[in-house]
Amino acid sequence: MTENGQPKKLQRSLFQNKVSAVGIGIASVALFLAVFFLALDFLSGGTSLYTGIITFFILPIILILALIVAAVGALIERRRRHMKHPEVVPRFPTLDLNVSKARRTLVWVVVVFIAFLLLSTVAGYRAYHFSDSVSFCGKTCHQVMKPEFTAYSNSPHARVDCVHCHIGPGAGWFVRSKLSGMYQIYATLFNKYPRPIPVPIKNLRPAQETCEQCHWPKQFYGAVQKENYHFLPDEANTPWTVKLLIKVGGGDPTFAQVGGIHWHMSIENKIEYIATDKQRQKIAWVRKTDENGTVTVYESEDEPLQKTPENYEVRRMDCIDCHDRPTHIYRSPNTALNLALQTNRIDRSLPYIKSKGVEILSRTYDSEATALQTIADEIKAYYKADYPALYESKKALIEAAIDELENIYRNNFFPHMKVRWDVYPDNVGHLVWQGCFRCHDEKHKTKAGQTINKQCNACHIIISQGTAEETAVNLNGLEFKHPTEDVGDAWKEMNCNECHTGVNP
Ligand code: HEC
Ligand code: HEC
Ligand code: HEC
Ligand code: HEC
Ligand code: HEC
Ligand code: HEC
Repeated sequence: MTENGQPKKLQRSLFQNKVSAVGIGIASVALFLAVFFLALDFLSGGTSLYTGIITFFILPIILILALIVAAVGALIERRRRHMKHPEVVPRFPTLDLNVSKARRTLVWVVVVFIAFLLLSTVAGYRAYHFSDSVSFCGKTCHQVMKPEFTAYSNSPHARVDCVHCHIGPGAGWFVRSKLSGMYQIYATLFNKYPRPIPVPIKNLRPAQETCEQCHWPKQFYGAVQKENYHFLPDEANTPWTVKLLIKVGGGDPTFAQVGGIHWHMSIENKIEYIATDKQRQKIAWVRKTDENGTVTVYESEDEPLQKTPENYEVRRMDCIDCHDRPTHIYRSPNTALNLALQTNRIDRSLPYIKSKGVEILSRTYDSEATALQTIADEIKAYYKADYPALYESKKALIEAAIDELENIYRNNFFPHMKVRWDVYPDNVGHLVWQGCFRCHDEKHKTKAGQTINKQCNACHIIISQGTAEETAVNLNGLEFKHPTEDVGDAWKEMNCNECHTGVNP
């Protein structure tokens, strides 16, 4: 018997039971490891992917579960004592600050609580940064995000963190993204994700709140010059260069004249549309509201709406409706070969290398390994059979071409996720996808018959075009000349993407 008349056995801490002992044991180890890794994180100035996942996700979860186990053990113990000695152990704890032991316990509880709070604030802050890092977004689910991460790493936005476009600033979208992140982790663990990952991402944050954090559309002005290098699929891989002056334009008269693409599409006019397919490629209805509030509605002749517009989702056009692939750029075989030939990573003196390379890359392979093997085997076999002398004299160039074709494959084709250029439309331009011609096709008409401009100089002028030997130049703009004669003027009647699909037409 002791001072307050309880048996000694009942004075022992409630945590002295087997269940709590296990909980406390595990919690101590987890806490020790967490503090250790956190210290490492601070000293090394950053966290590697795997220590990050352990420190910020696995250890805290183990710690909290173990503490819950310890508490449950104590509750069971209290209940057991209450059942045995209901007269000395009441049903619920009593807190009597006149008993010195209770005061000491309280002080301990407060101290431990504050320490825990401090530690979790620091860890939480680091965890926030870690879960927003490019390596967490891009590499955690290796196979799943490999295409996006690879394409991103080779793009103009390679130094922009994923979260700047996918989440943006502010708490609301942060919470939303972490909630949907939980589902994504589940989908990855249980192999429930779609291949390829579908676009458009339905709840992507409005582009004004992400892109415009860095790009300010009013600040754009003037025109952008682009030089596109093409190589024809003939024996000589004949080069054909088009120089365009694209009327990007701007919207602030204090900087320069207003006008151009950005001005018309997103500043002066509000443009809304209804698409009848998931990828927003078939546009049936367009509404323009200009700065005076005048409304003009254009309807597709080819595929009109089946019901009245109120029955559909009306989308307001923003940056993503043109720049939908600003960073996850998967090059088509044609584009990739044009680039490799232009930069001499594939030698132009190899006969038919353009045509042959495009043809091999455009096939479907069931794995990367098969594709790489096929590229090496077929290129060698082709030159050995058709150009035996050249095969001996230019062995090194042929090897280099094979290396580059394999690189192109690795960076742009992802059979595991079924990702390649032809699954994600690219809406800037009109060569391989309909892009601007989804609306600018002269087939979207107002009741009065007015159409959306398809004139070749509405968006750009061609200032030069032709082969190395024969280039036409005119700074006021040339009429487009199709590089191959047999196509003639067919481009005037047909859209470019009816023949051009990214491979040899
Ligand atoms: C410059 C802005 C930007 C950055 C940076 C960015 N993304 Fe994207 N991402 C987009 C846009 C735009 C889309 C397409 C949205 C659409 O069409 O609905 C997209 C689409 C995706 C998709 C859907 C599949 C696809 O290929 O379209 C995934 C997955 C994705 N991004 C992951 C990532 C990861 C991981 C990172 C960082 C390594 C990242 N993104 C960085 C803008 C960005
Ligand atoms: C965190 C800042 C940041 C954000 C957010 C951002 N960008 Fe960029 N963007 C850049 C930088 C930096 C460049 C590269 C400029 C350069 O290399 O000249 C760039 C380049 C571009 C280019 C020119 C690409 C080229 O081929 O030269 C386009 C188009 C573009 N961004 C569109 C977008 C769109 C669309 C979004 C929203 C989905 C976006 N950006 C979000 C920083 C950003
Ligand atoms: C109607 C389609 C369209 C819309 C909408 C649009 N752009 Fe563009 N943008 C273009 C075209 C076309 C170019 C020319 C360059 C090219 O072809 O990539 C361009 C060029 C750019 C460039 C490169 C400019 C330079 O001077 O090099 C940036 C950056 C850019 N856009 C950002 C944006 C942002 C941010 C938004 C949303 C506020 C936006 N764009 C909306 C079509 C569009
Ligand atoms: C959703 C439909 C839609 C898409 C897609 C679209 N536009 Fe437009 N665009 C319009 C409408 C509507 C107008 C206003 C037409 C008018 O005022 O006569 C317009 C006007 C323009 C103008 C001013 C034309 C003029 O007559 O002076 C330019 C430049 C332009 N768009 C460029 C582009 C480019 C470049 C793209 C592709 C990157 C594009 N647009 C894609 C609907 C679209
Ligand atoms: C609504 C705007 C618009 C109209 C109308 C338009 N284009 Fe384009 N065109 C673009 C854009 C945007 C690009 C892409 C520029 C870039 O980023 O390379 C482009 C690219 C091109 C290219 C370069 C393709 C390449 O890959 O080298 C050619 C050639 C071209 N256009 C010809 C034409 C012809 C011919 C017409 C008339 C039938 C026409 N364009 C009408 C917007 C337009
Ligand atoms: C009737 C089919 C057809 C139409 C329509 C067509 N082309 Fe072509 N185009 C071809 C063929 C065939 C070739 C030669 C094979 C090749 O180069 O892939 C070619 C080659 C090209 C090339 C050079 C080679 C390359 O692929 O890099 C360019 C640039 C080009 N076309 C631009 C255009 C533009 C821009 C339009 C639309 C204004 C257009 N074409 C419309 C069939 C067509």
